[in-house]
Amino acid sequence: PRTVKLALIPGDGIGPEVVAEAVKVLDAATAGSGVEFEKTHFSLGAARYLETGDVLTDDDLAAIAAHDVILLGAVGGVPGDPRLANANIERGLLLKLRFSLDHYVNLRPTVIYPGVPSPLASHGEVDFVVVREGTEGPYVGNGGAIRQGTPHEVANEVSVNTAYGVERVVRDAFARAQARRKKLTLVHKTNVLTFAGGLWKRIVDEVGATFPEVAVDYLHVDAATIFLVTDPARFDVIVTDNLFGDILTDLAGAISGGIGLAASGNINPDGTYPSMFEPVHGSAPDIAGLGKADPTAAILSAALLLEHIGLPDEAGAIREAVVADIAGRGGASRTTSQIGDAIVSALTAAAAPELTTTH
Ligand code: NAD
Ligand code: IPM
Ligand code: MN
Repeated sequence: PRTVKLALIPGDGIGPEVVAEAVKVLDAATAGSGVEFEKTHFSLGAARYLETGDVLTDDDLAAIAAHDVILLGAVGGVPGDPRLANANIERGLLLKLRFSLDHYVNLRPTVIYPGVPSPLASHGEVDFVVVREGTEGPYVGNGGAIRQGTPHEVANEVSVNTAYGVERVVRDAFARAQARRKKLTLVHKTNVLTFAGGLWKRIVDEVGATFPEVAVDYLHVDAATIFLVTDPARFDVIVTDNLFGDILTDLAGAISGGIGLAASGNINPDGTYPSMFEPVHGSAPDIAGLGKADPTAAILSAALLLEHIGLPDEAGAIREAVVADIAGRGGASRTTSQIGDAIVSALTAAAAPELTTTH
């Protein structure tokens, strides 16, 4: 048996609720696979900060980095909670993990599954993946303010784009496009952000020359939001910067049946550090503790995790179970754990016929 060290960071709000269901599904999907998870729980997030004053210590980071792979729920408190004003959980925990573990590919797939209540009336077959740069852009914290709190305040938040950082994510996106429908769309704002946009465009052209089979397209980010609503079937792989990718993927979640279905992976393709899988959504303080959270995004993130550690069949089985569950949802409202249990049942039911053929 192969042992995989899995770090679990359930986090705040609905994070622990959805991670519990994802772990159930992960265990069911890998039963009998020869892979065994050695799980460590890390209690991190706004709740931990309020208790101890710590967001993410060097020891926490080192302990997490010693794992093979990470599953995270969501972190962060109620937006605007004054007790969290100085903590900056998002930057000090989530982004610190992504940056320290060099998660330069933030992979966010979107599929409109059969039977899903998409707000789009007719959309065709929607199956695309956003490759969002994960370690640069306006997220780096390269900012500052002077004369804060005065009418003459000046605040800067500088977007950092390095040739090295852009090249490696663009190359990854091209490789994914090559393995899919061979279409790559760069999304940026080259008409205004001429320096960063110029660098992205040039690197896409350069790397694209080494992938002659991949058709390259370009959209300004504002136009991309139009096409995500009017013609999302046109997309295969979208490559974009950290902030544009953040915004586009919430929109992608909304068109594909809701943010409760949107999964993601923060990937270090080099394997130097553990990759981290998490739903795109946040801690949803408005529904936390009510059993109303849809765990599907966390469950599909667990499927991405399995694919990453080399278990594509088990990942596929989870996806099939989710597709079956979504197709049968109708209007019934179910609790978080009822959805998790139904997906586990669909998994087990799909596995059963195989067993009967063996005797
Ligand atoms: P959010 O994603 O938490 O919630 C937005 C809306 O979507 C809410 O109405 C919520 O109820 C709903 N929603 C989210 N997930 C759902 C699910 N699984 N099932 C059903 N409904 C769901 O975004 P927000 O309100 O902007 O942020 C809340 C907190 O989460 C903030 O502190 C924010 O910084 C943090 N956050 C964390 C992450 C993360 O950990 N990766 C991501 C986004 C936001
Ligand atoms: C996401 C979130 C994070 C981001 C925040 C919480 C830092 O919105 O994972 O999409 O902006 O990347
Ligand atoms: Mn986001």
